[in-house]
Amino acid sequence: MSKKGIIAANWKMNFTLGEVQNFFEKFSPPHLCQHHIIIAPQFPLLTIVQSYAQKLHFFLGAQNCSTEKKGAFTGETSAEVLSSVGVQFVIVGHSERRQYFAEEEDILSKKIQQCLAANLSVIFCIGETLHERQNGKLEITLKRQLSCLQEFHDKKLWEKLIIAYEPVWAIGTGKVATLQEVQEVHQFIQATFQSSYPGEKTPPILYGGSVNPQNAQELFNLPSVSGFLVGGASLKPLDFGTILAVQ
Ligand code: PGA
Repeated sequence: MSKKGIIAANWKMNFTLGEVQNFFEKFSPPHLCQHHIIIAPQFPLLTIVQSYAQKLHFFLGAQNCSTEKKGAFTGETSAEVLSSVGVQFVIVGHSERRQYFAEEEDILSKKIQQCLAANLSVIFCIGETLHERQNGKLEITLKRQLSCLQEFHDKKLWEKLIIAYEPVWAIGTGKVATLQEVQEVHQFIQATFQSSYPGEKTPPILYGGSVNPQNAQELFNLPSVSGFLVGGASLKPLDFGTILAVQ
């Protein structure tokens, strides 16, 4: 039986309004696509992308949200406002946020808190740098990153949680983790969940990092891969359409 996946496009800081319109002139999900498709544009583009979401049957995602509920936080965007314009998924903990905006566990857990309060699902990104991998710190890094979920265990998070494993060295570099590396890490994440939260369902685990039309199917064949978080290739309508055709 073919697997129903979750495939999320992280457009990052790309696309003007005109470019979004060009994208949707060329993009259509494959006929009878069974996957949950999510597209996360920049904030000002959310409402226009939402107008296509209804027609093309995908969900609206956001790339970030504020740690705060509302008020005098100039330049921030609250989870509540994201929800009010149709967002259903928020990417939290992407390595670019961790790296360039110093977002660590304390900040990320506040963001998760806000998503939960606004009834939004969380795509929680984890992943090691090359340095961490080469120095035998892969597992300890992932465990530390996952530890910030603990405080939400009794709350509603579990049914709203998706994990995205994105090795930092594979993001935007064209270097994809090998199938074995992906399988090993996904199994490690599953095992960590099972031992930390026995009896609970393990959340879906996406892979991200240079996913493209050539490698998507073999990655999706891995039993532990529930789908993808796609950056660069999601900006190309035909490539993204091909990735969505994985079965
Ligand atoms: P990439 O980005 O597909 O361009 O490697 C993935 C991501 O950062 O989510």
